[in-house]
Amino acid sequence: MRARNVTDGVLWVGSIDWDRQLFDELIPLPDGTSYNAYLVQGSDRTALIDTVDPTKTGEWHGLLDALRLTKVDYLIANHAEQDHSGSIPFILERFPDAKLVCTPKAKGMLIDLLHLDESRIATVSDGEKLSLGDMTLEFIHAPWVHWPETMLTYLPERRLLFPCDLFGSHLATSELFMSDASRVFRAAKRYYAEIMMPFRNLIERHLERLSGYDIDIIAPSHGPLYDDAQFIMDVYRDWVSGPLANKVVVPYVSMHGSTQVLVDRLIGSLADNGVVTVPHRIAQGDTGRLAMELVDAATVVLGTPTVLAGAHPQVAYAAMLANALRPRVMFASIVGSFGWGGKAVDQLLSIIPNLKVELLAPVIIKGFPTDSDLDAIDQLAAGIAEKHRGAGVM
Ligand code: FEO
Repeated sequence: MRARNVTDGVLWVGSIDWDRQLFDELIPLPDGTSYNAYLVQGSDRTALIDTVDPTKTGEWHGLLDALRLTKVDYLIANHAEQDHSGSIPFILERFPDAKLVCTPKAKGMLIDLLHLDESRIATVSDGEKLSLGDMTLEFIHAPWVHWPETMLTYLPERRLLFPCDLFGSHLATSELFMSDASRVFRAAKRYYAEIMMPFRNLIERHLERLSGYDIDIIAPSHGPLYDDAQFIMDVYRDWVSGPLANKVVVPYVSMHGSTQVLVDRLIGSLADNGVVTVPHRIAQGDTGRLAMELVDAATVVLGTPTVLAGAHPQVAYAAMLANALRPRVMFASIVGSFGWGGKAVDQLLSIIPNLKVELLAPVIIKGFPTDSDLDAIDQLAAGIAEKHRGAGVM
């Protein structure tokens, strides 16, 4: 890719990773991703905001060569994670007078991660400003979106926010700005669920603070930019604290059909009670989709057969993931089967202490479901619907 014009004096100088399929060896990337970096060319000084993943340094070299860029005064590191910081050593070598600018917390992390020369780094405090001549960079410390060292950079003269990961989406596209709102909404929601949801309380505070800034353009470090900043800020507010959906997410595994029968009955009974179910067959599913569905689900029901006296390991994995992502679910239950005994319920409950849920009586059956087992599922569905109504989840 070539550099692209964002607005007067600001260029996108990132890299698009069309083929990447996995992030952190964990998160599926069905639409690839991008590593967005930006060049802000003031009348006196030039700043580069973030860099690209080290796998893209070579390609990025070509983009910067084509720009005939002779000077970078400041390299702003909003975030120390390597998909944005990994090419910092290359920039510091290419521009020996460039100063790396970051939070005090990021300084230590960047030295640890990249073995940078401490003398090249200047730290900035929360709210500090840096003049580029006719443009100014203001640094807004925003810890835990999603690492502790993070900051956002604001360019008041262009009403432009560079929030790094915040508001981003893993979406490789040649469109610089969002044009397909529903596609970007889904990609941004998936990104929020996977990366930001565990820190939603802090994000809520950051959103409140950002409401005091005049922002027209948001230029995140992944995915397309937003020229309607309000769009992404509004959906973030909704994900962080909006109403929950009258929805039950059911991550499950069925080995020989018993748990499948229970899940199918649950789906039907919940529908009869006016509640939507999102079944998620874990072994064949996409964990990003599961995370996304948990953003606004009121209830989660785990479905598991018994393996070696415990829950199926894939269900334990889904429970561990949900526990780490800390969705806002209010109610939980477990359905499943066993042959001769087991501790699946105790085991799964011990995995989800972060979920502050009310547990609804699990339905754990022996063998293939009988009519009375299915009646128990009907009662669970009715109980979930009643709880939703009581909690105002409609
Ligand atoms: Fe895109 Fe937290 O790095």
